[in-house]
Amino acid sequence: MKELAVVVIVLAVQVLHVAAMHTNPFDVVRGCKQHHNVGSYDDALTYFPTASLQNVGRTVNSTYFKIAILGEKDGVIRLSRSLFPYDKDVIEILLGGWGNTKSTAKRQHRSASNRFTDTQLVEIQTPNLLSPFWPTMFVLQVFNNGTVLVGIDGQEHPFLSFNDSERIPPDYMAFTKCLLHAGSTAYSKYFKIAILGPNDGIIRYGESLFPYDKDVIEIVLGGTANTKSEGRVQHRTSMNNATNTLLEIIHTPKLLSAFRPTMFVLEVFNNGTVQVSHDGHGHPFLSFYDSKLIPANYMAFTIWNKDVIFFYDCPLETIKGCRQFDDVPGYNDTPVYFSTNTFRNVGRTSNSRYFRIGIVGANDGHIRFGRSAFPFDEDVVELVISGWSNTQSVARRQLRRRNQSFNNVLLKEASTPKLLHRSRPLVFRLEVFDNGRVQLTKDGERKPFFEYSDSQNAIPPDYMAFFKWDVDLIYFYDCPLNETGAGTAGEESVLLRCSLA
Ligand SMILES: *[C@@H]1O[C@H](CO)[C@@H](O)[C@H](O)[C@H]1NC(C)=O
Ligand SMILES: *[C@@H]1O[C@H](CO)[C@@H](O)[C@H](O)[C@H]1NC(C)=O
Ligand SMILES: *[C@@H]1O[C@H](CO)[C@@H](O)[C@H](O)[C@H]1NC(C)=O
Ligand SMILES: *[C@@H]1O[C@H](CO)[C@@H](O)[C@H](O)[C@H]1NC(C)=O
Ligand SMILES: *[C@@H]1O[C@H](CO)[C@@H](O)[C@H](O)[C@H]1NC(C)=O
Ligand SMILES: *[C@@H]1O[C@H](CO)[C@@H](O)[C@H](O)[C@H]1NC(C)=O
Ligand SMILES: *[C@@H]1O[C@H](CO)[C@@H](O)[C@H](O)[C@H]1NC(C)=O
Repeated sequence: MKELAVVVIVLAVQVLHVAAMHTNPFDVVRGCKQHHNVGSYDDALTYFPTASLQNVGRTVNSTYFKIAILGEKDGVIRLSRSLFPYDKDVIEILLGGWGNTKSTAKRQHRSASNRFTDTQLVEIQTPNLLSPFWPTMFVLQVFNNGTVLVGIDGQEHPFLSFNDSERIPPDYMAFTKCLLHAGSTAYSKYFKIAILGPNDGIIRYGESLFPYDKDVIEIVLGGTANTKSEGRVQHRTSMNNATNTLLEIIHTPKLLSAFRPTMFVLEVFNNGTVQVSHDGHGHPFLSFYDSKLIPANYMAFTIWNKDVIFFYDCPLETIKGCRQFDDVPGYNDTPVYFSTNTFRNVGRTSNSRYFRIGIVGANDGHIRFGRSAFPFDEDVVELVISGWSNTQSVARRQLRRRNQSFNNVLLKEASTPKLLHRSRPLVFRLEVFDNGRVQLTKDGERKPFFEYSDSQNAIPPDYMAFFKWDVDLIYFYDCPLNETGAGTAGEESVLLRCSLA
């Protein structure tokens, strides 16, 4: 993730039902946590204030949208007249391009041979328009006469305006160049996508950004008046002719809801199996086999029905109140030690300190703690949580040198099969006693699943660092101590994230 610019795009489209409701369906979004391991994490992030839904919609001569973008640069929005704009023009608005210095709008004509010609419509300086730390809420207004205005929500005057002589209507909107990559296993890639709307949530994915004359997979969730779901291969010609080959169709009555986002997990296996399940349910409700092994390199969500909203590339469950650390260094990378003094949630007894920590990932959580922020040439404790293919945990006393060479003294080894999970957090209490005893206890359990004592060398948990071994991990640290359970998916977990390649 270090190399990728991460952009979060949130699209709020008018949902007619919202006004009639007492609870806000966007509560699910509001609980989101930001994916940056910096201070602003703690802010009560009102990414998607209810108010933001109330000024969205239509005027006599225009349509407007509110779109929040979180990211350091390159928020890209495309508007088009049709779902498959081959040999047609689209409008592409780039916000915070050129390293977050300029914004542009252009008309792009894309030919069947995947060439495109751009006609620049406007280019302006917009230094520091976007922020990776808080979302910027934009209002995009498209007039029927071709004038397009982009402003910052709450500001009177738009900062970007242009006239599109072709008057391309915003009938379809896409956030392009999204290389979604919510998670992967050795056998698959998987994505979390939430859909809010009465019917017809359509997800497409394929090998390339502009899959002309190529096959894509199209998954319709809650189609046919919210009664059926299907998976199909779609071949789209340059003439905008789509041929569908049905792979599977099943009854899924009332799958979608206009009032609550439904969170799905889409898993695309390397062997061609494609599965869609409800988040949190292990068993897929839709499963089909794509003999063409179309990879999910690019994904698009089509706003077929205007009342459908997609939340995509949702992170793995966020644990309420925890800080999240997802730019996790490798085993021999430069460590990032946190001073536990700065944690808000440290439990204390007369002879111990304890912390609540969560780990999401397939195997090998590595936690080190010690006396100093730069614990070189001094002992630290290293806990390996479910290493060796998620089977064993160990504790070591480790002396690590500046050149990253190290010596380990094994303190304890225990069998802990299947403790970690690639998409569900293991949440536990790490208790460090003054006398060198250390205990790890899962949420909801009384008996530690791992413990040892090293009374000759009690090492205090004044500083703590998190590492990964061979798979990506997300750590949640400084978690509230009294929280029961890990916060169920859907409650907290929707963050729209789109990594720009
Ligand atoms: C809408 O467009 C019509 C015709 O182009 C024009 O007469 C009218 O003033 C416009 N209304 C607004 C609010 O701009
Ligand atoms: C389109 O209509 C808007 C609002 O009425 C107006 O401000 C703008 O100048 C018009 N654009 C063109 C190209 O006529
Ligand atoms: C768009 O057209 C309107 C009406 O002709 C004009 O007033 C306005 O300056 C134009 N805007 C841009 C950005 O060219
Ligand atoms: C699309 O395909 C159908 C059936 O093959 C054909 O009749 C039609 O002319 C095609 N349309 C275009 C625009 O090529
Ligand atoms: C693909 O792999 C998954 C998971 O291992 C398995 O469930 C599925 O049956 C496999 N599909 C095919 C077509 O081999
Ligand atoms: C690292 O430093 C230690 C102690 O100074 C030395 O023994 C070891 O050879 C060094 N290792 C590497 C890889 O440079
Ligand atoms: C957690 O609960 C215990 C007992 O219910 C209470 O004494 C303690 O203050 C609580 N701690 C926090 C951080 O809320």
